[in-house]
Amino acid sequence: MKTILVSGGNSGIGLQAAREFIARSHRVVLLGRDPRKGEEALASLKAGERASFLSVDLSTHDGVREAARKVLAEHDSFDAILHSTGVLTMQEMRTADGLHPFFSVNYLCRYHLTQLLLPALRKAERPRVVMMTAAVAPADVDYQAFPEFKPFNFARMREAVQLSNHHYAAHLARTEPDFLAGVVNAGAVKTDILRMAPWFMKAGAKVAGPFIYDSVEKSAHNVVEASLRDDWQPATYWGKTGDFGRRTPIRLDDSTTQHVMAVSRDLTGA
Ligand SMILES: NC(=O)c1ccc[n+]([C@@H]2O[C@H](COP(=O)([O-])OP(=O)(O)OC[C@H]3O[C@@H](n4cnc5c(N)ncnc54)[C@H](OP(=O)(O)O)[C@@H]3O)[C@@H](O)[C@H]2O)c1
Repeated sequence: MKTILVSGGNSGIGLQAAREFIARSHRVVLLGRDPRKGEEALASLKAGERASFLSVDLSTHDGVREAARKVLAEHDSFDAILHSTGVLTMQEMRTADGLHPFFSVNYLCRYHLTQLLLPALRKAERPRVVMMTAAVAPADVDYQAFPEFKPFNFARMREAVQLSNHHYAAHLARTEPDFLAGVVNAGAVKTDILRMAPWFMKAGAKVAGPFIYDSVEKSAHNVVEASLRDDWQPATYWGKTGDFGRRTPIRLDDSTTQHVMAVSRDLTGA
């Protein structure tokens, strides 16, 4: 039985992954912000003591530290962390740390929380860190605005945030020899992700959704397999939803990886 931390596990794709872990007899710890959604998620899993939920705010450095404290108070080891937290907003807004929440929730909290939980992960035989994100084309990504992204421009800046997950996977694969680290494209799925999105995106999704949406099961497939299976190389990217066999090694410019890691370390102290 594996113990899997599912960050963003009270909703959408993370919750679907948790459902599959429970069906395969594993144990899950769900993290999310909304306690009501957390309780509903637990009730829907019907997993008794094999599932628990912690309400946390991962958008700030202090929130992540508090989350790590709560998690470690209940569990001293994990086999896997699945990061499925996300917000989608195009507005200019800032967290208490002066960062944009698209950056802090869709990348930085993943780095920070994993770093704080490394000792707990290292106790597993083959620890793994799996990060859910959207598709990116690494060659075109511009890191000039990283990490403040000020003023925030979603169209120009989203890929640098998303690609930071790839850089972290590459870093983990290089620095933690027993780890598997992967990044998975979510595809397009009807979840709560559009709740902060602009009206035209919601309207577009309403019209095009029935033609373009994947099922949540298909979207969760690769993260579930990556969290449970050992037959993949560290630093792998799954760009095609629902097909675990179609994957590519993450190969990035090493100096950019070092820059992203140095900035992440400076921001969080972890
Ligand atoms: N659905 C898509 O079409 C799509 C496309 C591309 C990428 N993705 C990515 O896939 C991942 C999963 O998203 P989803 O579609 O399953 O959306 P979702 O249902 O909205 O799930 C997002 C999760 O992130 C959590 N979260 C957001 N802000 C948080 C915070 N400050 N602190 C703690 N938890 C926070 C949410 O918790 P609360 O609900 O409690 O706030 C929720 O559990 C995200 O990284 C998303 O960017 C999704």
